Amino acid sequence: MWRNLTRIFVPAQTQRNLISAAAHWRLCATMNTELEPKLYCPPSGVRGMTSLDKDAFTQTITVPALQVPTGVLNKVVKSLKKSTIQRPGVPKIVQDKEGNADFRLVLLDPHRVSSISSLSEAEAEALRAFGVSEELQDYEVKLTYDNLKSEEVLEAVLPQGQDVTSGFSRVGHIAHMNLRDHQLPFKNLIGQVIMDKNPGVTCVVNKTNIIDSTYRNFCMDVLAGEENMVAKVKENGVRYEFDFSRVYWNPRLSTEHQRVVQLFKRGDAVFDVFAGVGPFAVPAARLGANIWANDLNPESYKWLQHNCKLNKVESKVQTFNLDGRAFIQGPLKQELCTLLKGETSVHVVMNLPALALEFLDAFRGLLQLEPACEQNLPTVHCYAFSKEDDPAADVVLRASRSLGFPLENQCSVHFVRNVAPNKDMMCIRFRIPKEVLFCRNEEKTEPTEEPAPKRQKCDKSTDST
Ligand SMILES: C[S@@+](CC[C@H](N)C(=O)[O-])C[C@H]1O[C@@H](n2cnc3c(N)ncnc32)[C@H](O)[C@@H]1O
Repeated sequence: MWRNLTRIFVPAQTQRNLISAAAHWRLCATMNTELEPKLYCPPSGVRGMTSLDKDAFTQTITVPALQVPTGVLNKVVKSLKKSTIQRPGVPKIVQDKEGNADFRLVLLDPHRVSSISSLSEAEAEALRAFGVSEELQDYEVKLTYDNLKSEEVLEAVLPQGQDVTSGFSRVGHIAHMNLRDHQLPFKNLIGQVIMDKNPGVTCVVNKTNIIDSTYRNFCMDVLAGEENMVAKVKENGVRYEFDFSRVYWNPRLSTEHQRVVQLFKRGDAVFDVFAGVGPFAVPAARLGANIWANDLNPESYKWLQHNCKLNKVESKVQTFNLDGRAFIQGPLKQELCTLLKGETSVHVVMNLPALALEFLDAFRGLLQLEPACEQNLPTVHCYAFSKEDDPAADVVLRASRSLGFPLENQCSVHFVRNVAPNKDMMCIRFRIPKEVLFCRNEEKTEPTEEPAPKRQKCDKSTDST
């Protein structure tokens, strides 16, 4: 059988590694028969490596090849496209071993082809039609670190039987990872591999578990690459720039940003209480809404202003660097008095899921000295985390408690995403009841009893109210 002809050539300088590579290769080849093919596993000598030695990954493997007349080469490669070798940096077509210019060798994928009978009927038919000999040849391919995928490198290096996660989120040129404890001894190697294998990534950071509780930015440990933390990203066609180590940015929120911004119309008034660097405010301003955007973090505030300029919407966005409550009771209250007399739709966005519900009480009696009206009452889009079995009901209950008014049947709840096992991010949307906004101090009531959470309908896709 073709596989029995496998031989390993050993370059002198990496002899020791490749001896173990040979043993490992045989093991891998044996495993191929029953398990998922592991033909490309790197030499076992790399296991436990903490500082990346790329040469140690070099090995020679034997792959099947077909000798194909040059005249029909392209047609044959096309017909065999499911069976040709697929490896980063490894060519599919090489010179004939005898140097015969009339032929080339087409390299096949050893995972799929162990003998000529591995080819499909259509492939075999194509070979006959193009006059290609059905005899498989051995071809020795030198595989290096560059030909391996990041998972293959990391699986070979990290302790066997433990989870190898090479997953990361990308923010511009920065890849950020969340390494587990057992991966930490290998953190710099992991960072280097991620950088090598992902074009455009020039910096890899690990999020430590400590999240700065006020500004929602993570402490970062630079694992590999440059220390430049100023990222340039595009989200939903809008450009943003910010220092990733000093502000909050989550690429997983792009759909949510888009969903909410699509609810706004030209001329609407949008108050973004926890605006970050502007992923609601800037696209809403581009849409023609008028924005009041606030963030307590001076660094977010700086980049928010920068992003307004970058997207040429600074005339549509007023920026503030205040605590959310001060923003609601200051600029928002002031504008609301005027806005409620007109026709403008008013929205308030509150994306600080760990705390935002607790800020809702700032709306109680906010306009107590104004004449009560029912029109254009602001629509609030408020985010919250929930660990309850019925997160929608939980969020409605907590929002009602904070407002001092029952919101059941006059709100909608949207599931945003699952952030951790048993922890969901939700968005509750409701019109601020006039009883809340215009209530006098003496009327402010706390819900006396804790009502049992009723099951709340949760909209998991589009939100139609
Ligand atoms: C979860 S981030 C959301 C940022 C942005 N809206 C987004 O969707 O990406 C919450 C933001 O609230 C800001 N923040 C935290 N506490 C605040 C407070 N008390 N008042 C105002 N902003 C606050 C943080 O600096 C952070 O930028």
